[in-house]
Amino acid sequence: MSLQNMTSMLQRAQKNGYAVGAFNIVDYNSMRAVIDAAEELRAPVIVQTSVKTVLFWGYEAVMSWMTQLTQQAAIPVAIHVDHCTDIEVIKRCIDAGWTSVMIDASAKPFAENIRLTRQVLDMTASCGVSVEAELGAIVGVEDDIHVKAQEAHLADPDQAAQFCHELQLDCFAPAVGTAHGVYKGEPKIAYDLIKEIAARTGVPLALHGGTGLSDAVFRKCIGLGCAKVNISTQLKYAHIDGFVNYHQENKVYNPLKPLAAQYNALKAAVAENIKLFGGAGQA
Ligand code: 13P
Repeated sequence: MSLQNMTSMLQRAQKNGYAVGAFNIVDYNSMRAVIDAAEELRAPVIVQTSVKTVLFWGYEAVMSWMTQLTQQAAIPVAIHVDHCTDIEVIKRCIDAGWTSVMIDASAKPFAENIRLTRQVLDMTASCGVSVEAELGAIVGVEDDIHVKAQEAHLADPDQAAQFCHELQLDCFAPAVGTAHGVYKGEPKIAYDLIKEIAARTGVPLALHGGTGLSDAVFRKCIGLGCAKVNISTQLKYAHIDGFVNYHQENKVYNPLKPLAAQYNALKAAVAENIKLFGGAGQA
């Protein structure tokens, strides 16, 4: 078990109607909280790193935490770089031991998106690293990618079918109406589009912009074929609030105390999502 790519965990999830939670971590404490929560619930899990996080700590540091934390783990864990637009960074991640990568060339013209995604698939073909790619434009801010509401557009179903026909993806992220960050108002999810893309591609779908969606929305999207659900913003809040709230209440200048409170807040948020996505007991 333990450290692996996300191919078989997503295929199993797709077949059995649940989703694997993919949680963006920012440091050792958040990585530990994600893996411990999944371990306690016996759930497969995807640890996601933004490019900024990787560059902040360095490839080797992040991978050394991962290796140490998964050595004893009895569950399947993947380490995945999220929304990467830079092929050089993808190469460095693969060399450092990442088991999964997302090439995000969705801002490029369709043919260029296919070409760059194919380049990444060629790089990973011999090393067993799984690949996710995106089509359409998901509104909001994720890492250094900013998409304004007027620039956002859903994935075109014919292009989605062609994209997945030409590329052997492990996971496909079509824009379906969700948003990165905090929702302003009720999200308009294109359920029919999810259904059509799932049917026409057969590829496990990634639902981006998980923070703030209702339980009912998650259940519906997962039932239609979303086998990977991304959660980032909710964990950023748990990270900061877990630390700050403890300090404000206790005013103790022992950093290990608020760090423990931060860990507990992160772990609780991850556990809640894993249970909601149906991943508990699936490892
Ligand atoms: P949120 O920040 O909205 O949870 O989205 C996460 C995401 O999709 C990361 O790629």
